[in-house]
Amino acid sequence: MPNFDTYLTENRHRFESDLFEWLRIPSVGTDSAFDRDVRQAANWLAQKFRGLDLDTEVIETCGHPLVYAESPKVLGAPTVLVYGHYDVQPPDPLELWETPPFEPSVRDGKVYARGATDDKGQMITHLFGVEAYLKTRGELPLQVKFLIEGEEESGGAGLAAFLSGDYDNDVPVKEKINADIVVISDCSQYGPGQPAITYGLRGITHFQVNLSGPNRDLHSGGFGGSVSNPANALCKMLAALMGEDGRIQIPGFYDDVQSPSERERRQLAALDFSETECMSELGVNALAGEQGFSTLERRWLRPTFDIHGLWSGYQGEGAKTVLPAKAGVKFSCRLVPNQDPAKIKASLKKMLEGLCPPGIEMEFHASRGAPGLVLSLDSPYVEAAARAIKQGFETRPVFVRTGGSIPVVNSFASILGIDTLLLGWGQDDDNLHSPNEKFSLADFHRGIKSSCCLWDEISKVDA
Ligand code: BES
Ligand code: MN
Ligand code: MN
Repeated sequence: MPNFDTYLTENRHRFESDLFEWLRIPSVGTDSAFDRDVRQAANWLAQKFRGLDLDTEVIETCGHPLVYAESPKVLGAPTVLVYGHYDVQPPDPLELWETPPFEPSVRDGKVYARGATDDKGQMITHLFGVEAYLKTRGELPLQVKFLIEGEEESGGAGLAAFLSGDYDNDVPVKEKINADIVVISDCSQYGPGQPAITYGLRGITHFQVNLSGPNRDLHSGGFGGSVSNPANALCKMLAALMGEDGRIQIPGFYDDVQSPSERERRQLAALDFSETECMSELGVNALAGEQGFSTLERRWLRPTFDIHGLWSGYQGEGAKTVLPAKAGVKFSCRLVPNQDPAKIKASLKKMLEGLCPPGIEMEFHASRGAPGLVLSLDSPYVEAAARAIKQGFETRPVFVRTGGSIPVVNSFASILGIDTLLLGWGQDDDNLHSPNEKFSLADFHRGIKSSCCLWDEISKVDA
């Protein structure tokens, strides 16, 4: 049988130039100023799928379109659904990028660009994996379906509506995208040279709180001390949400949280992890968090409360003695399996209402939220993926959880009843969502090879 390596080696440069072209499209999904570019990214991708003779559609939604493509059904073999996203986070703050975010630049074997790892660079390895398979073997050993969305970073409303709808062009949605297993490459390896299969994701629920006090900014000498200050109130309210011991104080918050099993604690402790290296890499002189848990446990198994943005009052040079009329905050909680976002929302709202001082109006907004999840490792698909990764990365993967969230994995489980393989090719320090996002080109090529081998390995599993 012809082997993939020749094709992969011969096409190395073209895979990279296609990746760079893909990364040059500024598909910032959260900002309507980029709507035309987002559309262009969807069309670019659809063109690539059509180039492989996949049956391809750009599906309109209430938001950015979905790109859907499928190869023919192979009788007696499983069907794989590859999910990914072509939208990217805003590139700000622009001044902190060493090279512009939408002009891919290679330094030290890594490509720097917004979307390099999250998720354009990772997702496209599966398109090239299919290409390499088709070009070396003529046809795929199983059916591959691609469902790539443009709103992952902005809440995924379009995909959620599509998944919960009944029909798409007279085809029942569930039938259309039905598969035996989902594959997603939108997370990280355990470290450089150490690929991983991720079996747990945290969930998330976002909040925004706006406080307003007096009907205008006031002189803090004339009025200070006699009327509630929204900035003071906000600080006090937020401070009450977390105890000195790093425990979140929302009533009932931990009620449904399971304690880690001794077995899992031992497995995590056995992973190679250095607190000192982590501290120096992050430029901090201490790591911190909930008492009684290791750093990896805090990241993967425990829920969090983190403020993302905070605003009020005067931010300019020098002093301005103002009592601001308004204050606001955006924050979120990462959730672990069994925690119910709706229950937490209700409890938090009640708590904040109780903490809000007289003379302040509070507006409270919460996202729909997604629960955390743990995937079963006891599946022939997991073994198949491990064998494919072994061929692509020349090392067997370790099994890890992650602190990040990919809410749609819950929908695939609840709507289609199927499991997901989370096969991340990135690194935790790839600066996703930050300036200077990057992706190792060696890992990009290893990802393509793994993807190519994955089709073979999954086709051997009894569907
Ligand atoms: N790809 C990330 C999720 C991720 C990152 C998983 C790193 C594992 C490791 C995804 O694009 C993302 O950013 N998700 C958001 C959640 C979403 C609801 C906005 C997140 O985790 O903040
Ligand atoms: Mn992502
Ligand atoms: Mn992301």
